[in-house]
Amino acid sequence: GSASRYDFVIVGGGTSGLVVANRLSEMKGFTVAVIEAGDSVLNNANVSAVTGYGRAFGTEIDWAYQTEDQTYAGGSKQIIRAGKAIGGTSTINGMSYTRAQKVQIDAWEQVGNDGWNWKNLFTYYKKPEEFQVPTPEQVARGADYYIAYHGEHGPLKVGWPRAMTNSSVLPQLDETFQQLGLPYNRDCNGGSMVGLTVHPNTVDREANVRHDAARAYYWPYQHRPNLKIISNTSANKIIWESDSRNEAVAIGVEVTGVNGVETIYASKEVILSAGSLRSPMILELSGIGNPDILRQFDIAVQVNISTVGENLQDQTNNGFSYEGNDFWLGSPTFSALPSADHIFGEDVLTIASDVNSSLAEYAKRVSEHSNGAVQEANVLAAFQLQHDQIFKSQVPYAEIVFLPIGNSFSSEYWPLLPFSRGSVHINSTDGSQPPSINPNYFMFGQDLKAHADVARYIRKAFSTSPLRTVVGEELAPGQKHVPENASDSIWEGWVKSQYRSNFHPVGTASMLPRDKGGVVDPELRVYSTKNVRVVDASVLPFQLSGHLTSSLYAVAERASDLIKKRYIF
Ligand code: FDA
Repeated sequence: GSASRYDFVIVGGGTSGLVVANRLSEMKGFTVAVIEAGDSVLNNANVSAVTGYGRAFGTEIDWAYQTEDQTYAGGSKQIIRAGKAIGGTSTINGMSYTRAQKVQIDAWEQVGNDGWNWKNLFTYYKKPEEFQVPTPEQVARGADYYIAYHGEHGPLKVGWPRAMTNSSVLPQLDETFQQLGLPYNRDCNGGSMVGLTVHPNTVDREANVRHDAARAYYWPYQHRPNLKIISNTSANKIIWESDSRNEAVAIGVEVTGVNGVETIYASKEVILSAGSLRSPMILELSGIGNPDILRQFDIAVQVNISTVGENLQDQTNNGFSYEGNDFWLGSPTFSALPSADHIFGEDVLTIASDVNSSLAEYAKRVSEHSNGAVQEANVLAAFQLQHDQIFKSQVPYAEIVFLPIGNSFSSEYWPLLPFSRGSVHINSTDGSQPPSINPNYFMFGQDLKAHADVARYIRKAFSTSPLRTVVGEELAPGQKHVPENASDSIWEGWVKSQYRSNFHPVGTASMLPRDKGGVVDPELRVYSTKNVRVVDASVLPFQLSGHLTSSLYAVAERASDLIKKRYIF
């Protein structure tokens, strides 16, 4: 019936999807539907609590995807968390708000995505933002910023938690890192990220709740007559016009919801925003992908793009913990963002050259893993660019977060730019079955080495004054498991036995020229389709040194403008 026909159908009401839904429904006279597998979490305390990080894990709003056995990382499977809710993963994430290094966004244009550069995106980094200027008390606890980097009129509240950690911690960390040569960075959100920083969060300070995509982009707009969320409903595949010839034309989306299986029709466009582990799967179920894979499931090929689901890039996370000699209250947002120079010290040139001479072999192995779907030359070009970012541009190569909470002082860290590449593909023709996910963690020696060297750097920081006077015994990894001056193999063994996913998967429907392995063009349209786009973490061609949501909000804002330009004049 007419109730299930809209101009725009968006699959996934998550971080990116709700931005697009909000902006497209600003066009009066156009109707927008959002299909979301999850439900409202507006009143879910595991979501709203500012100090509740982790409480939603393993509950019904966590997809808790499982990877394949991780051959290069000790063999076992890993869990990759992702939000299943109106608001998506922004409802369960760590709320950190950090963008990217300027060169990382400029690289998008450099590889052929016209218009996608730092200068253009900077406008869209600011557009979503309602920056909450810190109070004098927050400034005293380390909140710092350049107002020119921030937007003040957007829907998303960005700022520091009402209760920030005791004011002594920042000077202690700063003095420690000054000795390790890492400078203080007042505001890491202007495109220059390296240093020690007290970064903002996506938080509503006054209400003292998490500010997720739903609170920012949906709930205040829920009464728009042309905007509808169809929740508790899962999208299976795109339905195509029967005589699609040169270009595939989408006419709707088949969903399974409270009324069983039905089609939601789209008169203008279908936009996939189901996340980087899900959007490629919907493409495959709809006949867009690698014919070798589609054939295994008897799916008719609509568009042959062999790289759908390839190019998966995630990071790996690990932690330290110490007894505290102090007692800390409040929510910490301290991060150290060292570059390769800081981490590798005087070995950096040797390491840069070793890695450089391994890149051809790395690229060959990635291509082999994909059974040739990914071309060796394309991966090699991407690796050379990444090598330049790490060793020439000196972008942040690791993030180290410091968590002084109660009487413990712990730290989580993750190398930001691993070379490992994996994939996500369908396992069945049933849209409700999770995909097969293989990030290939620690596929390459450098990824493991980086992990061990960052760990050494962290231990060095904790044994440098004044930080050393603030903490007592090292509980994890602990001298018993990893003694002082432990060998590479001991550190690497610990890393493999303790790591987890950092939950930042990107790249599985990359925005790149088609002959470079791209799935979407610079307007985020899937190649050889007339009216299907992907707008979510899938389209990021390369991993970033920032947490992802700030960049995803920016990309979704810019994508919305690109879409609207075609309908309003
Ligand atoms: P997102 O996952 O937000 O949205 C996808 C939506 O599609 C979901 O709502 C899902 O339910 C829905 N969906 C999926 N399949 C569907 C189907 N078939 N039919 C209908 N709906 C479907 N980032 C950051 O900036 N700061 C941080 O501190 C952290 N910390 C962090 C912690 C944890 C635990 C995680 C898991 C992630 C983070 N991140 C983060 C990463 C960040 O939150 C994440 O990258 C983005 O929210 C992803 O946004 P997307 O729009 O790509 O997908």
